[in-house]
Amino acid sequence: MDLRSGLEQKEPLNRRMKRSLWLLVAAIAAMGLLQQLQASKHNRDDAAKTAETTPRNASAPGPAALTGVPKSYPFTFAAYGDIRFTDPSNHSATDPGRRHAIIAQIAKDKPDFVVINGDIVLDGSVANDWKVMDEETKPLRDAGVTIVPALGNHDVRGGAPALASYFERFPEVKPERWYSLTYGNCLFLILDSDTAHGPGSPQGDWIANQLDHVSPDADFVILAMHHPPYTKSSENFMGMGGHSARPEEQQLAQLLEEKQKTLRAKIIAIAGHVHNYERYEHGGVMYIVSGGGGATPYMIKRGPDDFYREPGPTYHYCTFKVDHGKLSFEMHKLEMPQGEAKWRVEDKFEEKPARGN
Ligand SMILES: [Fe+2]
Repeated sequence: MDLRSGLEQKEPLNRRMKRSLWLLVAAIAAMGLLQQLQASKHNRDDAAKTAETTPRNASAPGPAALTGVPKSYPFTFAAYGDIRFTDPSNHSATDPGRRHAIIAQIAKDKPDFVVINGDIVLDGSVANDWKVMDEETKPLRDAGVTIVPALGNHDVRGGAPALASYFERFPEVKPERWYSLTYGNCLFLILDSDTAHGPGSPQGDWIANQLDHVSPDADFVILAMHHPPYTKSSENFMGMGGHSARPEEQQLAQLLEEKQKTLRAKIIAIAGHVHNYERYEHGGVMYIVSGGGGATPYMIKRGPDDFYREPGPTYHYCTFKVDHGKLSFEMHKLEMPQGEAKWRVEDKFEEKPARGN
């Protein structure tokens, strides 16, 4: 899968990675997508940029730090999760018709990129599931929509072979299973919630360090991860499956809310794993659960104060329109009466940086 439009790896670990990067840049140039490549992560100029790759300290260890520059403001990115690409004959673990419809609509929207917050495939150890992903995401490639992936528990099933299939398709996110992306006035921290991320763990320390060094130019910090810090789902609710929030993500939420007390940028955390849609705000941090990309729906026990209170399944994707100092979010719900895709915006909000300029 060729997905690398608009992204550049900032800190390749070794010569091979460096060579791959330059080949990647050449491929992007051929695709006419140079305008999205980075010039400077601090540059807020609206004008389209000429590619200006700047390999940095090639010996520096650490997670990838990707950068991209929007062609213009406002720019849009999409996000959702729990697609579970697999053989289309499987209708029990995921709905092939709905996952096709969602991808077709995102391709039609042409956001700058789409964040997939985990469970990209049904079983990472099954090579064919990744091949199905390759096939079914062709509309995104054709539309020039890059995938920004986060790992989910299904993606890492089987260990090394699963990760090999993942990194084969997303080599720019190496060497770690988590990484950052600076895109215009947004800092994305893409986590691997299947790897330790509490205090003292390499990923946990990286998250804390990233939050301690957010650029003053960043208006929004977007965390994408698979397991949600907040959810009203619970194990097998109504006999239809579900997942409670785990202690490690609850601990992460405490960190986010502590950092938000002094951070100018607004933190928005988007997760999946729970096959439905939820949104909550705690401690100044906005939390979104977006796991309605195709996987078998879970039911959620809604409360009267929830931002989204619809019962039943919620197949959907989310869009974020980002301007200088302003972000507009919409959740696009899919229904397919008589097999025809119908879309409605069922939740939305606007955000500004947490503190004034
Ligand atoms: Fe999951």
